[in-house]
Amino acid sequence: MNYEHHDYDVLIIGAGGAGLRAAIEVQQRGLKVAVITKSLLGKAHTVMAEGGMAAAMGNVYSEDNWQVHFRDTMRGGKYLNNYRMAELHAKEAPERVLELEQWGALFDRTKDGKISQRDFGGHRYARLAHVGDRTGLELIRTLQQKVVSMGTDVFMEHKVLKLIHDHEGRVAGCVAYQRATGEFVTFAAKAVVLATGGAGRSWKFTSNSWEGTGDGHAMALWAGAQLIDMECIQFHPTGMVWPLSVRGLLVTEGVRGDGGVLRNSEGRRFMFDYVAEMFRDETADSEEEADKWYDDHSAGRRPPELLPRDEVARAINTEVKAGRGSPHGGVYLDIGSRRSAEFIRRRLPSMYHQFMELAGVDITKESMEIGPTCHYIMGGVKVDADTAATSVDGLFAAGEVAGGMHGANRLGGNSLSDLIVFGRRAGVGAADFVAAYAGVPQLDEAAVEAAIAESLVPFEREEGENPYDIQRDLQEMMQSNVGIIRTRSELDEAITHLEGFTERVKNIKVKGGRAYNPGWNLATDLPAMISVSKCVARGAILREESRGGHTREDFPQASPDFATFNFAHSTHGGSWDSEIVTERSALLEMPVELKALLEEGH
Ligand code: FUM
Repeated sequence: MNYEHHDYDVLIIGAGGAGLRAAIEVQQRGLKVAVITKSLLGKAHTVMAEGGMAAAMGNVYSEDNWQVHFRDTMRGGKYLNNYRMAELHAKEAPERVLELEQWGALFDRTKDGKISQRDFGGHRYARLAHVGDRTGLELIRTLQQKVVSMGTDVFMEHKVLKLIHDHEGRVAGCVAYQRATGEFVTFAAKAVVLATGGAGRSWKFTSNSWEGTGDGHAMALWAGAQLIDMECIQFHPTGMVWPLSVRGLLVTEGVRGDGGVLRNSEGRRFMFDYVAEMFRDETADSEEEADKWYDDHSAGRRPPELLPRDEVARAINTEVKAGRGSPHGGVYLDIGSRRSAEFIRRRLPSMYHQFMELAGVDITKESMEIGPTCHYIMGGVKVDADTAATSVDGLFAAGEVAGGMHGANRLGGNSLSDLIVFGRRAGVGAADFVAAYAGVPQLDEAAVEAAIAESLVPFEREEGENPYDIQRDLQEMMQSNVGIIRTRSELDEAITHLEGFTERVKNIKVKGGRAYNPGWNLATDLPAMISVSKCVARGAILREESRGGHTREDFPQASPDFATFNFAHSTHGGSWDSEIVTERSALLEMPVELKALLEEGH
């Protein structure tokens, strides 16, 4: 092979919170580790978890503890979660937050000097450690500083094309190209950790930046791992809807956590009309009761604006469809009439600037126009909770690319804590794997050559499709056919469209050279976007019920028939257009003491 080549003990693909936290763990064990990112260090979707990281530290409500957090997470996930992941997450998050503080994260403080914690939907107590509304940014800044100070190798603007096995079937590294030059690079490693984040870019309105194309999900699938819960997609209730150029940009749940309320075009606080049976006992039924709760959680029941995200997003969708939306197809989010300008600027500085700069709206005085935006994929690579190992030898996954932790719906704030808890565990898992590894990883050269050749074909065609046309059509189709509310006929259509996109991708023409060619980059993203979208649509067809981030108009209730397993997708061909096989994968049996926590309503 005639390419730049690197050898490592552990290779980490992705430089968001999970990837960086994994890298620190591996480096601390004295192993040789590299982080590869297709973007720049410090620029990951992690920064879009703005409002905070959930950890039952009990700083604001001493009643809080891991048991309540575990229960909230399982309930929020509509019990489809891998219970062991939810358990480890709830137990370990506080320690991981304190560790970040030791590494320099500057959290906001309570009056008595503890790490401040704010309210978010679905969490019984105020438990999100935060830095204004820039928590993800602070998390990345802190981890990045640590990684740089430890001397970890970071390969920026390297787009990984494919994981490569050795001749024994173990994952042994990957092949990538450098975006700046278009030159190919190979990496061999004893263990590979996927920490590539999500897949929101396959929908038209999304909070995800260009990186969120599901690369890691797809590469794991092609490498022989299973993807679970892919039908469960989180539409964050509050994205900007106007101006159109920024439609989908996140408006943090922290606005509602800090007292913001949702109103329709008639001025009605409509969330009182959408309280599902399972949340009725704990949700306020009057504005007066809801408002008391912000000052003292024992003085009333929770405001309905703080129901889990799936409930709120569906309610907004219904209001808009019923003709009670705002001029640009959203509803109103009002904090300006409820909190002082000083409070809003201190607690929500980014939101203040975002609306002022992008929409000319002063949120201390005017309401924001917001609507649901594709934010997060609960589905991902099936992993062992304790080690983050996938079913493929040598391959680990953590963060959004891993499935199971959040079940059918993620609670806000549980993502940042997921990244640091399971990023660390993936680092430990990979390091332990390396310790037991004998030999030197050898890439299958024929597989490397094939991946490179496949990526270059679009340059060689005389004529063909522009990748941007395919991307636009895919996003529009996924938004309308596999969006918040789904129905069988539209999902069937989606499958037909996805087969059509598969053929169109085989006819892409890329113009220009290989250096910094965004069209080529997109051409290499599209196979992943289509593979992931197929799994989402297949899971959505098979799950004939509504649960969390999967709502079927034709099956509007949750069904006990679907409560005990995930849909797991795999492919055996190794190629991006290989046939996908979907089967039922039983949920882990929960130990009685954890079941009791759920039943007691702890
Ligand atoms: O609304 C937010 O700040 C997002 C947080 C999250 O997705 O966890």
